[in-house]
Amino acid sequence: MTAEAGPIAVTTRGAAGPYQVLVGRGLLGSLATLLEEYAPAHRYALVSDSNVALLYGEPTINRLKDAGLNAELFTFQAGERSKSRAMWSELTDRLLHAGFGRDSCLIAMGGGVTGDLGGFVAATYMRGIPVVQVPTSLVAMIDASIGGKTGVDVEAGKNLVGAFHAPNLVVADPNVVATLPRVERAQGMIEAVKHGAIMDEAYFDELDREMPALLDGDAASLERAVARSVELKSSVVSEDEREAGRREILNFGHTLGHAIEAACSFLVPHGTAVACGMILEARLGVSLGVTDPGVVERLEEVLGRVGLPTGIPDGATPNDIMVYLSSDKKVRQGRTRFVFLSRIGAVHLADGSWSQPVEEDAVLSLVKPEATAF
Ligand SMILES: NC(=O)c1ccc[n+]([C@@H]2O[C@H](COP(=O)([O-])OP(=O)(O)OC[C@H]3O[C@@H](n4cnc5c(N)ncnc54)[C@H](O)[C@@H]3O)[C@@H](O)[C@H]2O)c1
Ligand SMILES: [Zn+2]
Repeated sequence: MTAEAGPIAVTTRGAAGPYQVLVGRGLLGSLATLLEEYAPAHRYALVSDSNVALLYGEPTINRLKDAGLNAELFTFQAGERSKSRAMWSELTDRLLHAGFGRDSCLIAMGGGVTGDLGGFVAATYMRGIPVVQVPTSLVAMIDASIGGKTGVDVEAGKNLVGAFHAPNLVVADPNVVATLPRVERAQGMIEAVKHGAIMDEAYFDELDREMPALLDGDAASLERAVARSVELKSSVVSEDEREAGRREILNFGHTLGHAIEAACSFLVPHGTAVACGMILEARLGVSLGVTDPGVVERLEEVLGRVGLPTGIPDGATPNDIMVYLSSDKKVRQGRTRFVFLSRIGAVHLADGSWSQPVEEDAVLSLVKPEATAF
């Protein structure tokens, strides 16, 4: 891992070809030059939520205009509720009224909500215009901006309507994490811990050591962590943009995590549910004899440093968790499939598959209150 400052470039391959993910402190200041190089367009639509627009919208638009680019800011109300068909419809109408054509480029500057919503607008606007992702939350830098998944939530569930639409470029500037609330930084760190747990023990140990600095928003530590997570996630999604094979390992902690989120009616943040899911799935792996027993303790230690609760939330009853688990798309023939660690830094591979089917009883005994008390 490099110690010097400056952009780190990671090449990610999407179905439509490779794209660069640039990570570096201060990169937002060079956005105009980067756009001209990687995504030249007649007009730019900068899409941001109300929080990010307030902090970075006007300065960014002004810098783009100063560089001679034709750019306009489009904002929407911050929050997951805006990741909707209604907001997709509103934004596409606003772009149409403003006369944006096929030769335009959309810049999605914000957290994962902006990336998913803005990306989906770009995927569908005039049958698809280029998008540049400028992630400003840690969740977006570490996870959401890489891999080309875009979409909106619908009544039947989250992310059920969308498209694969890889960006032309991703620009991640860790300096902007300074304004991100600490609880949001913690949410991003959960996904970083997952990357270390499934692919890179040295990174896992580094996150362990640097967690206080990362949560404090130390830009140098964040730059290293974001770059490593981007490398790791890119290596998986580049092989497998449409999730047929190894991309599955990214589901570690998410099978139970999603069921817990749903059982709490999404009142618990995603990262918190996934932290709990990773610990439970590690326990399940130990009980099935595929996961090294020390893994649970290591996960509990590192996730404990993130400072979020890691137990099953009060609102999630074992029954509800089981109901949502059985409606998961990973269920085949009544048995849910799980991704298991063999040790920290490696996923268990059996019979050529990165996930293993588990009987309902084994999971039920794990999520009962008496089973989680040890
Ligand atoms: N496409 C994917 O592969 C993928 C992967 C993971 C998550 N997601 C999606 O991402 C979303 C969650 O992302 P999120 O946690 O970034 O949520 P978010 O976009 O709502 O951002 C969280 C909060 O932080 C604020 N914020 C963002 N950057 C800021 C900054 N620099 N300074 C101050 N405030 C800032 C936002 O305004 C918001 O209030 C979910 O909808 C999830 O489904 C998508
Ligand atoms: Zn996740």
